Amino acid sequence: MTTQQPSATARHYRQDDLRRKIDEALDRLYPGHTTLTTDDLHGVDEFHTGGHAATRELAEHLELRAGLRVLDVGSGLGGPARHLAQHAGTDVTGVDLTEEYVDVARRRTDRVGLADRARFQQGDVTALPFPQASFDRAWMLHVGMNIEDKARLFTEISRVLTDNSLFIVYDVMLLSDPTLVSYPLPWASEPEHSFLARPEEYRSLLRKSGFDIVAEHDHRSQAVQSLRDAGDAHHQNSTPHNPAGGDTPPAPISVAMGTDASTKIAKALQNIEEGLLAPTEMICRLR
Ligand SMILES: C[S@@+](CC[C@H](N)C(=O)[O-])C[C@H]1O[C@@H](n2cnc3c(N)ncnc32)[C@H](O)[C@@H]1O
Repeated sequence: MTTQQPSATARHYRQDDLRRKIDEALDRLYPGHTTLTTDDLHGVDEFHTGGHAATRELAEHLELRAGLRVLDVGSGLGGPARHLAQHAGTDVTGVDLTEEYVDVARRRTDRVGLADRARFQQGDVTALPFPQASFDRAWMLHVGMNIEDKARLFTEISRVLTDNSLFIVYDVMLLSDPTLVSYPLPWASEPEHSFLARPEEYRSLLRKSGFDIVAEHDHRSQAVQSLRDAGDAHHQNSTPHNPAGGDTPPAPISVAMGTDASTKIAKALQNIEEGLLAPTEMICRLR
């Protein structure tokens, strides 16, 4: 991978003043709130199809118990990591390329009192800043679509895990001709910055990196429902404030998707409904 791609990716995700926009979205969701728990934040901090329902389901597949060290690969705004820290009592480390996301993740985690169990650092997941065998579990939620060199990604993840560790990949995977896929999408505005791969490619690269694939789940129906809900929420949130359209206040997670959030949500839904893309979970165990 060239050094150019990570900065194009970080530029795609970066928003101006994301922290303030999230606070405004929370004010709309919980008018007059003084304290918010981690459970109140689901609508604004889970940046993958299926949202919190998917996070909960995947977490169950990680066979967690208190004290395990978990790596969240591409941790975004920190919602999935906070869920693991809060509900499973694990010690979570999140790594993400986008500085602004790391900053939001840290501040939110601090606000809900989980900073001793969930920490975040800026970094590239294809060159993880940890010694070998540092973690007992790992998961990666909707990040591989941004990574061209998946062989290096999976080799890095296997390096930092202890033997027999579970690792869950939950990515949007390619089922058909890539030229038919419509953009912009939540992870890339143009095809040049999108690195979709087929399930066969994932399986092959994971096996070469030392993982056995123990189960696989197709999350398309959950994704379709969540994208419809996100589209409706975005529309409802925009309409009363500014019926004429234009500079509308965004709905919860679409805050992180920028001004063309509704198009990105609609295109993601369209590609899934047309059978071109499928959010897919692969549960892997390091040999
Ligand atoms: C669609 S978001 C998913 C975030 C989070 N996993 C979640 O589900 O809420 C993709 C994330 O991957 C991060 N990312 C993309 N390429 C990366 C890289 N090479 N290294 C680290 N993070 C990366 C982005 O900054 C972004 O936060």
